[in-house]
Parts: sequence; structure tokens; C-alpha cells
Amino acid sequence: MNFETHIGTDIHEAAAYLNSNEIVAIPTETVYGLAANALNELAVSKVYVAKKRPLYNPLIVHIKDINEVEKYAAEVPALAFQLFETFSPGPLTIILPKKDIVPDITTAGKQDVALRIPNHPLSLSLLEMLDYPLAAPSANPFGYISPTSAEHVYNQLRGKIPYILDGGHCKSGLESTVIAFRENKAYLHRLGALGIDELKKIIPNISFETKDDNAPVSPGMLKQHYSPNTILVQSKNIDQLILEQRDRKIGIISFQKNYPIDADKLVVLSPSGDLNEAASRLYAALHYMDALDIDLILVEFMPEEGIGAAMNDRLERAASKFIK
Ligand code: TXA
Ligand code: MG
Repeated sequence: MNFETHIGTDIHEAAAYLNSNEIVAIPTETVYGLAANALNELAVSKVYVAKKRPLYNPLIVHIKDINEVEKYAAEVPALAFQLFETFSPGPLTIILPKKDIVPDITTAGKQDVALRIPNHPLSLSLLEMLDYPLAAPSANPFGYISPTSAEHVYNQLRGKIPYILDGGHCKSGLESTVIAFRENKAYLHRLGALGIDELKKIIPNISFETKDDNAPVSPGMLKQHYSPNTILVQSKNIDQLILEQRDRKIGIISFQKNYPIDADKLVVLSPSGDLNEAASRLYAALHYMDALDIDLILVEFMPEEGIGAAMNDRLERAASKFIK
């Protein structure tokens, strides 16, 4: 289907499209989502098509508040409630056994549903208006960099969706942290905008799932993901690479430091060394670099603290197809 894609801030217009089973890009505090009525198979199928997302990859169901959790989840451990209470609305997604009301296509046939309460005023007001939750993966073509502005969505999905609800630049800029419960034990599925240190205050002994391409419990754990089209190399020694790669056109993304290259080929994520600021700008920097006429994107390793660990996780996946 070919649409003329409009960008606007009208939640009534967004709701009208959603009510007629169309899909709409919505802002969240993490990244933009590609939203559909999570309880309607036809609407949800359009998300997979627009994103070219494999049908084995389930969608997060966005709800308006904690009272909705038990509408869609069959069993909710006390700890899951405690997590929602502490960190929602916010960048936390919890995977729980689903109720039948959630169609199989939304969870890609899995018996679990991923629930999240996004922290963005426009999307929360939109959810208030609807009598169903919104299934929404990140609003990028499968495998590509997630969008953190309406313009990113427009550049990637123009013609494939009727409406982009413009909520400005996403505040945290990295996807939500995903947690699953099995037999009352919590597992970390995906590092994300909610930092580990925060989580550990509630669950000191949380277990990490490992990256394993052969059996991705959650396809966001796929080794290669979040990739720009341009070759990306993450390195601890950018100065050395600048010398080695002098015959190639390079761009550099650094955390704090300046490098001796053309100013328009360098993005310093946070001159003051603030990791949260750096995270909020990372994807925009990747989008920017990918649109330049360069052969190679060199990226520094981020400090492995706070949200820096999640940034390194995304960068490793963005790079891995080239360094295997
Ligand atoms: O911040 C976010 O989480 C954003 C915004 C839009 O909410 N959404 C997002 O969605 O990043 P997506 O689809 O790009 O990533 C969701 C991850 C995927 O790795 C997916 O496989 C996993 O969550 N997931 C969703 N439902 C699941 C389920 N029922 N079981 C296991 N993994 C699930
Ligand atoms: Mg995604």
C-alpha cells in the first residue's frame, strides 16, 4: 500500500487511523514505535509488512498504566508489579505469560506477551483515548538503526504509513530494558535505557541471558542488529585507525574527545562527558553518518557504566557483521 505520509502532533488524527486498523508511528521516551491495535490481527500484520519484520519476532504491547497489566498477562509475579511500580511509565518492558485476548500474531506465536508503559505525554494521551493497547516495535526497517526523531521515521518509512505523531526528539534514545520471568526468576533479555544499577536495587541477583544466534529467546538478542548500511568499526584506538585508513573516507563518533578530521565528519556525543546525553544522541549520530558519503564509521567504546553498557551492546551488534 502506498500512502502519503503526514507528520503532525494531532492525537485525534492518530487515533482515527489506529481505529481504522492502520499503523501510526508514535513517540516514546526511548525510540519511535510503529504502532497498531495490539488486539487486531489485521492491524498487527501491517506492522510486520511495513517493517519487513520476520514473523517470528514478537512485538511489545504498550499499555497506559499498571492497571492494564492483568488484562493482558495471565500470571504476574509480585516482583514484576514492583518493577512496574518503580520504573513505569518508563523504559522497562516485562515479558509475562499472555492471556488469550492477545492474538498470536502480536506475540509471534509465543505464549508470553511483552508489556511496557511508555513515558511520553503524547503517546500516553493517545493510549488514554483508545480502548485497546498498542503493539509497537521500533519504527525502523528490520535490522536497521532505530529512529529517535519523526524525521528519522519519515526517511525510513515514507510511503508505507499514513501518519507520524511527532513528539520531538526521544529523551533517552536507546530502547527499553527487557526483562522476562520464568518460574518466578527474573532474566535480563536486553540491556536498555533503564540501567542495570537501577534494576539491581530491586533485583540484586538478576541473571543475564547470553547472546546466542542459534536460539534467540528474544530476537533483539540477535548478534547483528541496529546496523547502518555503512561499515561500522568500534575501536579503542581511533587515532591508529585514522592513520591506517587514510585512503578511505571516514567518519568518527566519539564520546567526549575531538579528533583531527573535518568537523562535519565528527560527532562528539557529549563534550561534557554525560553518558545520558551521549545515549540520547547515539542513534541520531548513526543516522547522520549513514547519510554521509563515507566508507567507514569509526566509533569509540563508551565507558561501561550506567547506560554506557547498553550503548556498547548496540554498537557491538551494529558492527558485528563486519568483524566476524
Ligand atoms: O523502547 C522500546 O522497547 C521500543 C519502543 C517503541 O517501545 N520498542 C522496541 O521494540 O524496541 P522492538 O520490537 O524493536 O524490540 C522489542 C524486543 C525484541 O527483541 C523482541 O523480540 C522482544 O522485545 N520481545 C517482544 N515480545 C516478546 C515476547 N513475547 N517474548 C520474547 N521477546 C519479546
Ligand atoms: Mg527494534
